[in-house]
Amino acid sequence: MCGIVGIMGGEPVADRLLDGLKRLEYRGYDSAGICTIHDDRFDRRRAPGKLKNLAQRLAEEPLAGMAGIAHTRWATHGAPTEDNAHPHIVGDVVVVHNGIIENFKPLRDELIAQGREFRSQTDTEVVAHLIAREIENGAAPRAALATVLPMLHGAFALGVMVRTHPDLLLGARLGAPLTVGYGDGENYLGSDALALAPLTQRIAYLEEGDWVAITREAVEIYDRDNNAVTRPIVNSGASGQLIDKGNHRHFMQKEIYEQPVVVAQTLRSYLRPLESKVALPDMDFDLSAIERVAIVACGTASYVGMIGKYWIEQLARVPVEVDVASEYRYRDPVLLPNTLGIVISQSGETADTLAALRHMRAAGVTTAGIINVPTSSMAREVDLLMPTHAGPEIGVASTKAFTCQLAVMAAFAANLARAKGRLGDEADVVQQLQQVPEAMSEALGHDGDIEAMAPKIAAARDVLYLGRGPEFPLALEGALKLKEISYIHAEGYASGEMKHGPIALIDEAVPLIVIAPSGPLFDKTVSNMQEAQARGAQVVLISDAEGIAQAGENTIATIEMPKVAPLIAPLVYAVPVQLLAYHVAVAKGTDVDQPRNLAKSVTVE
Ligand code: AGP
Repeated sequence: MCGIVGIMGGEPVADRLLDGLKRLEYRGYDSAGICTIHDDRFDRRRAPGKLKNLAQRLAEEPLAGMAGIAHTRWATHGAPTEDNAHPHIVGDVVVVHNGIIENFKPLRDELIAQGREFRSQTDTEVVAHLIAREIENGAAPRAALATVLPMLHGAFALGVMVRTHPDLLLGARLGAPLTVGYGDGENYLGSDALALAPLTQRIAYLEEGDWVAITREAVEIYDRDNNAVTRPIVNSGASGQLIDKGNHRHFMQKEIYEQPVVVAQTLRSYLRPLESKVALPDMDFDLSAIERVAIVACGTASYVGMIGKYWIEQLARVPVEVDVASEYRYRDPVLLPNTLGIVISQSGETADTLAALRHMRAAGVTTAGIINVPTSSMAREVDLLMPTHAGPEIGVASTKAFTCQLAVMAAFAANLARAKGRLGDEADVVQQLQQVPEAMSEALGHDGDIEAMAPKIAAARDVLYLGRGPEFPLALEGALKLKEISYIHAEGYASGEMKHGPIALIDEAVPLIVIAPSGPLFDKTVSNMQEAQARGAQVVLISDAEGIAQAGENTIATIEMPKVAPLIAPLVYAVPVQLLAYHVAVAKGTDVDQPRNLAKSVTVE
């Protein structure tokens, strides 16, 4: 989603601002802009589309100046045009903004009634007008920002500069992340530490309601009541190198291939093979007292929650509810005592999931989080952080974060089962989980077969995915992956549901991807597959050698997986599902890493 970089610099900033924006590209955006202050005036370049358009504008008309702010915009209010691109200038004020000002309409009406003219359709422009109005009425920049912040409802991160105060950069955070970077004779503002990594590793994370005044010499942070506060300066550890694709064509491909390593890395922090134990980080609550689990997440992470429901209920016999975060608060959930709320998120900043977490905490529920970014808002707010160690995930389509989340979820389920006295043979669970990285590598060995069959799927208008048990959420994930990067319409179904409606969609033009490891649910899944084949379905069967020998006839393709225990099958079968979506998207020539309309970190509701 949108990204902010600001530099109060000791040398020219335009190139460095552009470089910062490049490091935020992975978040997804559809226009970009930079504004500097030079010779007491604002100088601005903006361009719709990718950063190369902005870079070209800058090459034609370079920007001078030792202070400036820059932005990548993911459109919420108004199309991704140059006029709507940030930074927005009103009078002596320039503003960049992430998030949404929910009450922008009444504010805008009020400002228009006062004779103020708007040049964009954005919600952001009201912020620039409000601050400009305070300044025109004689307020100093800090006071103007402090006056305007309480007027704004919604979730936002802001970067602000005032033409008459060229040595001051202001920022504010409410519901969207914002970091301050500490340099040498320079200081910075960024929507994440990654954007600032080549400039500094010394970072402070602003807290909810904080605002900040940055000069070259000093950083002053204030809380929502305008009290001066200190926030710890930490070493971000983010690499200053631009994360590259290595030998891979896309980040998504690279991240799919990283999975054996990052899943092993993640499992290492949860498995104690010598003691035959699955461990969790220390917690200050009693896991054995947990009587129910409420899991909340969005998109791919929510499918981890659905798979977790199968695992937790089977292993620990503790009831689990799973909600998509955007619905959670609004259905007014019944939160009974001894519930553990679990949020799952790669970014740790997804607005709906963060709001659901806060809802649970406000209701007095103990919370845990399976999160990939340890400095994120969610990671800081949960009672128990269960980190994934996937490393930065750049491709918008989540792959390695998904499987690392599954690994942690399996570790959690095993721990809860032990706490409930139901785990049985823990050494066996440890052994199964230890086999995952190797089984994933073996699955990756079938990449060539998947690539070869991808054009058949790429030609389809609709694709259906079927799975049963924990492979049902994997079918949903397969369909989501295909939709988001290939733009082919796809749906996932529990295989037993087919004849309750979706089977009406089946004909020769609709490929059916069946995810069916051999095991207790195999025969039933295959019966459902055959019902579809009898009606002309073109089946791709993903199974092991035994399953393929039994049911691989009359399919258009089979993808062979290693034989694995049911517990770890979703982790291993995720690989062909991801590769299939990837190769279909490549065959269709889409923008695999930054698919249209999507953002990596969804920080608006
Ligand atoms: C997955 O491929 C998606 N791009 C998306 O569904 C994602 O999983 C979702 O937005 C949740 O993001 P989070 O894990 O950062 O909370």
